[in-house]
Amino acid sequence: MSITYHDAEGIAAMRVACRLASEVLDYLTPFIKPGITTNEIDRLAAEYMVTQGTTSATVGYKGAGDVPFPKSLCTSVNHVVCHGIPDDKPLKKGDIMNIDVTVIKDGWYGDNSRMFVIGDASIAAKRLCQITFEAMWHGILQVKPGNHLGDVGHAIQRFAEGNGYSVVREFCGHGVGRTFHAEPQVLHYGRPGTMEELKPGMIFTIEPMINAGKRDIKEDHRGGRYDGWTIVTRDRSLSAQWEHTVLVTETGYEVLTLSAGSPPLPSFVPAASGQPAPVAA
Ligand code: MF3
Ligand code: CO
Ligand code: CO
Repeated sequence: MSITYHDAEGIAAMRVACRLASEVLDYLTPFIKPGITTNEIDRLAAEYMVTQGTTSATVGYKGAGDVPFPKSLCTSVNHVVCHGIPDDKPLKKGDIMNIDVTVIKDGWYGDNSRMFVIGDASIAAKRLCQITFEAMWHGILQVKPGNHLGDVGHAIQRFAEGNGYSVVREFCGHGVGRTFHAEPQVLHYGRPGTMEELKPGMIFTIEPMINAGKRDIKEDHRGGRYDGWTIVTRDRSLSAQWEHTVLVTETGYEVLTLSAGSPPLPSFVPAASGQPAPVAA
């Protein structure tokens, strides 16, 4: 196993796959309201992917465990940290939810997730979503040749913990390209100057999971049995996550998972930081 440095052709293909992954979230956004079930959201996404000519990378995906993931996306509500499985429970006003979508287009994987506030939510819940979004962007701003992955993790950890939150350690970002989960691992905590050096052509995700309470997590053994996937906070505190797929360019970064419906970049992201205008369809 080693890190892939993508050429112009691979980068062009990843731009397409990643934009399509982002457009699935754009498509779903107006449907995310109190009363809809996560299974209905999953069905909408599966149908939309057909129109895109993409397939879901998560259906049938086997991680380290032996249970294939059964759905087209992950829905992680409130104290669910990640890998929540869509079900028939309606969302209710005040919930917060991560939707994580990974599509495959012509063999290339685009991976991204966003937080959604259902109706309206508490100030505390909305603040967690916002700080986690900003934490991801603080990590992205560290992406440039010569910096190290430890700079990315450190920026995220410093910002999240500085705002009174904790960083989940057990799950990380990852290289992505012609495979779903590749090297390197992208930790969301760490020390400046450590870990892999960033070089042009690397493509990886940055996807911090940030808890309002303690960082500890556990498998969700509701009713005494485990679905094989759902991870929750041990203290049942709220958890949030955002994810982008990012390319290391000659001068900095290019976020690949952007589309017309992406939320505006935080005001601290400099206009000239290397992010080109989104590529037209
Ligand atoms: N999309 C997730 C990630 O960011 C992985 C989901 S795997 C699944 O890496 F099987 F849970 F869907
Ligand atoms: Co990912
Ligand atoms: Co993902």
